[in-house]
Formats: sequence, structure tokens, C-alpha cells
Amino acid sequence: LGSRVIFEKTTDSTQVIAHHLGREGAQHGTVVVADEQVKGRGRLNRTWYSKKGDGIWMSLILRPEVEPQQAPQLTLLSAVAIVEALEEITDLAFYIKWPNDIYVHDHKIAGILTEMQAEQDQINYIVQGIGLNVNQNREDFNMISDNEPTSLKIETGMAWNRRPLIQVILQQIERLYERYLKEGFLPIKTMWEERAYRLGQPIMVSSKNQNWQGIFKGIDQDGALIVTDQKGRDHVLYSAEINWRSG
Ligand code: BTN
Repeated sequence: LGSRVIFEKTTDSTQVIAHHLGREGAQHGTVVVADEQVKGRGRLNRTWYSKKGDGIWMSLILRPEVEPQQAPQLTLLSAVAIVEALEEITDLAFYIKWPNDIYVHDHKIAGILTEMQAEQDQINYIVQGIGLNVNQNREDFNMISDNEPTSLKIETGMAWNRRPLIQVILQQIERLYERYLKEGFLPIKTMWEERAYRLGQPIMVSSKNQNWQGIFKGIDQDGALIVTDQKGRDHVLYSAEINWRSG
């Protein structure tokens, strides 16, 4: 991973560059990093704030030999790897909100956007975008969001050098990826569940324009969400948002 790293100063989105490279046959593990994204994007077509020098904005090209429905497993894998990387360099505890948001002290610090190119039931390539807030100050966030994201600087009180941080993250993703190839998803699933926010607790689920309350039971072997409803029935959800009221 990262044997080929492409640095961009300013770009629309590293996702766009990575898709382009993916189509042209770039090898597994190619990484695109940008200092600034003008059109950074998040999940569900949201805008991703990615101002100059403030964060790690990167996209990985992956070519795993797995079935398309297993692609979400790789998102969960990277979420665990990012948590491990952040816990390696700080004393803080980080958590994952399903499917792939990284939280610290109840605020989002990083997100992952996985986009797959598949044909005839075969993965051609996956572009995995990782956004990590690093050196933003509190004021940087106020204008753009009410549910206040956070940054490494806000949480640790110091500024961080991004290059070594990128190294640690890529190393952790690579380490888990090798384990995944050898041992399958089960050990990753366990690690993910150990770091999951609200596991075993009540959550609000929004799926297909419906909101309901349930108990967050865990994830299945594909990485889909399992929520038990009030009648005790389990629902397996591939696409949903989860939330909870704080306090
Ligand atoms: C999310 O939480 O909604 C996912 C955010 C993903 C952001 C990253 S930053 C690098 C890459 N390029 C983008 O435009 N988005 C991803």
C-alpha cells in the first residue's frame, strides 16, 4: 500500500483522480493525497470540508479479489485501521459509528467514502476515500455544520505533521488487509465491534425514509448493520443512518 503515492496541491476531489487512475489500470495500493479539495465529497452527496493543509484527504485504489457484496468489509477494515493508527499516536480513545465514521469525545473526526467499480459480479477496482480532520481549530467548523466535527488539534491541543500520520494510517490498513486476506473478515468484524459506538444500546435508524428505534445488535459477515426492533425481530440493513440522542 502506498508504493505509489500521488500528491496534489489543489484538486476537485482525490476521489475523481483515483477513479481516473483506476480506470486506467493503476495498481492496487496506489494512493492519491491532496493538500486541498475544492469539491470534497462525503457520503450521501454531502460536501466534505477540505481546506488547504488542514487535514488528510486521500483516496486509495484497491483491487481485492473478493465478491462485490464484500466491498463494505473493506470500509470497516479501514475504519478499524484508522482507529488503531490514531490510538497509536495519541492517548485518546476513538470509536466507530456504523458504517465508517470515526468519533472521539462524541464528535466526528474522520470519515470514509468507498466507491466500487464492478462488472459482471467482479470488482474492477475500489476507490476508498479517507478524510481526517487534523489541524482545524474550533472556529473553522462553526459555520459549516451544527453537529460540530472535531480535529486532532482540537482534541490533543497541538498541531500535527500530516506526512508521518499518513504513513501510520497506511501501515495499519496494510497490516489489517494482510490479515484479512489470510484469515477472512471474522477477526476484523470482532475488532470493529469492539470499537463500535452504541453496540448493544438503543439507536435511531433512518432507512428508506423511515425512522425507528431499535437495539444495535452488531454487524453480519458482510458488514451490514443488524438492529433488533421493538418486537424483537432482527433487521439487516445495508444502507441506513444511525443516530442517538446524547445524554
Ligand atoms: C463521509 O464521512 O461522509 C466520508 C468523507 C470522505 C472524505 C474523503 S477526503 C478524501 C476523499 N475525497 C473526497 O472528495 N472525499 C474523500
